[in-house]
Amino acid sequence: MGLYHHCVFPYLLDFAMGSRVFDKPRKRTLARASGRILEIGFGTGRNLPHYPPGVSRIEAIDPDTDLDRFSGPRIAASSIAVDFHHLNAEHLPFTGESFDTVVCTLTLCSIPDVVHALGEVHRVLKPGGRFLFLEHGLSPDADVARWQHRLNPLQQRIGGGCHLTRDTVALVGQSGLQLHDAEHYYLRHIPRVAGYMTEGSALKA
Ligand SMILES: C[S@@+](CC[C@H](N)C(=O)[O-])C[C@H]1O[C@@H](n2cnc3c(N)ncnc32)[C@H](O)[C@@H]1O
Repeated sequence: MGLYHHCVFPYLLDFAMGSRVFDKPRKRTLARASGRILEIGFGTGRNLPHYPPGVSRIEAIDPDTDLDRFSGPRIAASSIAVDFHHLNAEHLPFTGESFDTVVCTLTLCSIPDVVHALGEVHRVLKPGGRFLFLEHGLSPDADVARWQHRLNPLQQRIGGGCHLTRDTVALVGQSGLQLHDAEHYYLRHIPRVAGYMTEGSALKA
């Protein structure tokens, strides 16, 4: 797993995250990003081209140093200034109530202690601040969900800790954030076990 995780997985991840099927969902999700912005789980930097024109600077975190070979050149080529840190979302060093927007795409599935991480999102958002999310997760369809539970252990091993069975809306609700809007759909061209999407936003009261 060491060699796979360090040398193979980053390429697979960047390839998968670069799929055109995510372009429109990313653009829609990021359209409401404004003010001081934090992106958690920056990955290989695939969101950068999808921020709206008014965004000129973001802070971003991701713990995986193996992704730097992809994210570094994208940060360098972007017109957006990215203040990047190797950090886990479970322990953010930022002052409370200091961000207007926190962005999270295709990442709640991979954070080991996702409840703690969402608590941190709640803490660092200003009152009235927005959490913007685009996530795959547990399907409401029993047949799909059964396969998600079956394949979940394998997915975690080959997918960098990615879970197929997380319920995005329930997790956001537990964090103290107030769900504002959520769209659910299956992505075309992606197996249903990995393609049940939840896209939306939540607000800090
Ligand atoms: C499937 S990738 C998504 C990357 C990017 N958000 C995108 O949309 O292309 C999941 C990301 O979550 C990151 N991740 C894993 N554990 C994390 C943690 N504890 N805190 C923050 N990010 C984490 C991984 O390193 C990886 O970059």
